[in-house]
Amino acid sequence: MSLAGRVALVTGASRGIGREIALGYARTGAHVILTARDEARLVAVASEIADASGTSDVVPLDVSDPEAVRQAIDRVVARHGRLDVLCNNAGVSNARGPVAEVSPEAFAGVQAVNLIGLFACCHAALPHMIAAGYGRIVNVSSGTAIMCNPGESAYAASKAAVNALTIAMAKEAQASNVLVNAMSPGSVKTDMNPTSDVPPSEAVPTAVWLAALPDGGPTGRFYRFMQELPMLPEIDLDWKSR
Ligand SMILES: NC(=O)c1ccc[n+]([C@@H]2O[C@H](COP(=O)([O-])OP(=O)(O)OC[C@H]3O[C@@H](n4cnc5c(N)ncnc54)[C@H](OP(=O)(O)O)[C@@H]3O)[C@@H](O)[C@H]2O)c1
Repeated sequence: MSLAGRVALVTGASRGIGREIALGYARTGAHVILTARDEARLVAVASEIADASGTSDVVPLDVSDPEAVRQAIDRVVARHGRLDVLCNNAGVSNARGPVAEVSPEAFAGVQAVNLIGLFACCHAALPHMIAAGYGRIVNVSSGTAIMCNPGESAYAASKAAVNALTIAMAKEAQASNVLVNAMSPGSVKTDMNPTSDVPPSEAVPTAVWLAALPDGGPTGRFYRFMQELPMLPEIDLDWKSR
């Protein structure tokens, strides 16, 4: 698998899973555009990439600002002449609790990053990818999209919507050789999930595989460890008895 000659943008590349994916893309040969809000952390990731003889650019970016997203992606294409891979990884899970206790504002805050931020990145990137006749979009979703655990309504809704958006975009873009897939990184140890003991690098092989898919590869699918998962919640009629 090679990403040599590819330009790959990763959102939320400053830490956690996004940092690992960015390092993985660079190791596989891509020039990586590192984006997130924390510029100092992005510079540290860029320096790790350079130490391993990879190349990257640091582009501070808040995905919840659609105009900033559009400008950042247009600048990448103006500078490099292409954007081959978009990995939508930036995410938050900061509105936990039962619906009766989560404010609508907190619910909206999760959608602003996980769903609308991801949409804004795709909206800005797709015209370039379609014009180029090549693109790979990797949406970092979550098993929560299909498990819909109590107390995680905002996060589950955002990730189920990301999966639905993935299907719709895949159908729209397939004729242009733009493949759009979602992935679950599994439950891994990051600032978002500090109690896991699984390293976030576990997510990398799936993210690289989806970024390097050959023409005609799968699209509109949801993977964990390169194994396909159902995209959308399945209603478990027995859930009350468990
Ligand atoms: N960890 C898990 O077990 C797990 C499981 C399933 C799915 N996921 C998903 O994996 C992705 C990464 O999660 P993680 O566990 O690595 O979380 P994390 O350690 O909290 O990292 C989140 C990343 O998102 C960035 N981010 C947050 N808000 C942003 C915004 N408004 N604009 C741009 N970047 C923003 C953060 O960077 P800045 O703060 O520098 O902006 C950071 O790089 C998320 O989509 C999450 O839902 C994680």
